[in-house]
Amino acid sequence: MSLRQFISSRKLLRSFSSVKVNATLRWKEVASIFDLNSDVFENPRHIKIKNPVTAILIGAGHRGNIYADYAIQNPGELKIVGVADPNLERQNRVKIKYKLNPDYCFNDWEEVFSKEKFADAIIIATSDNLHAKPCIAALDAGYDILLEKPIAPTEEECRLILDKASSTNRIVGVCHVLRYSPYFRQLKEVLDAGLIGKVISIQHMEPIEQVHMSHSYVRGNWRNSKTATPIVLAKSCHDTDIIRWLVDSSAHDVHCFGNLQWFTNANAPEGSTERCTDGCKVESSCPYSALQIYLRDKQRLYVFDLPENKSEWNKVILENLKTTDYGRCVYRMDNDQPDHLTVNILFENGVTAAFSMEAHVSYEGRRTRIMGSKGDIVGDMETFELTDFKTRKKTSWKMKSDPHGGGDHRLVKDWVQAVAQQDKSLLSSSIEVSIESHLMAFGAEKSRLNRTIEEINLYNTPPPS
Ligand SMILES: NC(=O)c1ccc[n+]([C@@H]2O[C@H](COP(=O)([O-])OP(=O)(O)OC[C@H]3O[C@@H](n4cnc5c(N)ncnc54)[C@H](O)[C@@H]3O)[C@@H](O)[C@H]2O)c1
Repeated sequence: MSLRQFISSRKLLRSFSSVKVNATLRWKEVASIFDLNSDVFENPRHIKIKNPVTAILIGAGHRGNIYADYAIQNPGELKIVGVADPNLERQNRVKIKYKLNPDYCFNDWEEVFSKEKFADAIIIATSDNLHAKPCIAALDAGYDILLEKPIAPTEEECRLILDKASSTNRIVGVCHVLRYSPYFRQLKEVLDAGLIGKVISIQHMEPIEQVHMSHSYVRGNWRNSKTATPIVLAKSCHDTDIIRWLVDSSAHDVHCFGNLQWFTNANAPEGSTERCTDGCKVESSCPYSALQIYLRDKQRLYVFDLPENKSEWNKVILENLKTTDYGRCVYRMDNDQPDHLTVNILFENGVTAAFSMEAHVSYEGRRTRIMGSKGDIVGDMETFELTDFKTRKKTSWKMKSDPHGGGDHRLVKDWVQAVAQQDKSLLSSSIEVSIESHLMAFGAEKSRLNRTIEEINLYNTPPPS
C-alpha cells in the first residue's frame, strides 16, 4: 500500500467513526449519559400554593385566553376574578367561564383602575400598543403583572416600564415563552454543563413559514411597522431574548440588513383582485388564497370569533373574508414589514451571533447551531446533534414539541409561583433582561433603516455596581 493510499484509508476510517449517530436517544438518556437534569423544568423552589393567586385579565383575545386557561387546569394556583375587553362577546365568554362578578367585568382597561385593588395581579394581553399604559397604571395601583411581549412598541415606553417596575418593586413577568420550551431548556442545560466548552458563536434562524407570514405580517395586525411594531420586535424579540439567554451576557452591538421583497403591489399577478372573494383569476393557483387558507383548510381561525355551532362556520368565515383584512390580496395591502432579515450581534463576552428571520419557507421551528471551544451542537426543535471535538463522538436525540414547545403554561406556573412567594427571582427573566432583549430589537431596526451599527445600553449611564 502506498503512503497516499494508507493516509486516505485512515481518513476514511476516521470519517466513518465520526458519523456514528445514536439517533434514537431521548433527553432522559442523554441526561443520564452526561449527568444533566432529566427534568429541565423541575424547580425545587416551587412550593404548594395555599391560596390561589387572583388575577384580572386585560385583553381577552387569543393570548389572554391561553394564559387564563391555566386557572381552569390549576384552580388551586390561579383564579381569574375580573376581565376587561371592549369586545363584548370575548368579555362575556370569560365572564361565564370563570363565573365572574359582573362588577369586575369592564369594557376598557382604564375602568379596572377606577376600583380599589381587588386582585393580586393583572395579566396584560392587549395589542402591542396597549401594553405600556395599563402596565404603568397596574404598577401604580400595586398589582403584580404578567405582560405579553413585546413589552411596548417603543424604547421610550420600555424604559418607562423599567423605571416604574423598579420604583414600585413589583413583579413583572414578560411572556418570553420560548424560554419554557423543552428545546431551548435542553440547549441551555447542555451549554451550562460545559459540554461544548466555552460558547464561541451562534447561528440561529427563525423560519416564519409563508402562510403564517401572510396571516400576521402581511394581512394581519402586525403588517405595518409604523402602526404596529417592527417585525424584528414583534416576532423576533423572542429570539433576541433566547440568544442572550444562551450566551449569558449583555449585547454590546447589533447590526441588521433586511427588506420586503415579495408581498408588494409590484408583484400582484395579472387578474388578481382586491379581495380573494372578488373573482380573482389566479385564486386557485395562489399559495396565499384566503379562500384556501381560511375557508377550505380552516387554518388560523382564532381571529374570527366563530360561533359554537360549527355548521355556521363557513358562512361566518366567508363574511369575514369579504369584510376584514384577512380576505384581502397579499399583494395589495399597506404592509411594510421585511420578509427576510439578518441580525449580527456582538456580546460583551466576545460571543457573536448571526440571527436570520425568513418568511419564504415552508416550515416553522427554529434552527440553531452553537459553536463551542470543545464541541458543537445543532438543533431544529425536533432533533439535536452534539459533537465532542476530542473524541469525535456524536450524541443525537429527538424530541416532540409544539411551535412554542408547550411553554405557555409552564411560563404561567413560574409567574404564579413568583407572585405567590413574592419572589421575582423565580421568574426565568428579570424585567431588566427582558428590556435588554427589546433594546437589541430596537437597535436592529435602527440599523436596518439607517445602515448603522447600534450600541446596546440598558442604562443610559453606566449600570450600578
Ligand atoms: N408570547 C407570544 O408568543 C405571543 C404570540 C402572539 C401574540 N403575542 C402578543 O400578545 C398580545 C395579544 O395578541 P392577541 O393575538 O391575543 O391579540 P387579540 O386581538 O386576540 O387580543 C387582544 C384583545 O385586547 C382587547 N382590547 C382592545 N382594546 C382594549 C382595551 N381598551 N381594554 C381591554 N382590552 C382591549 C381586544 O378586544 C382583544 O380581545 C399582543 O401584544 C401580541 O403581540 C404574543
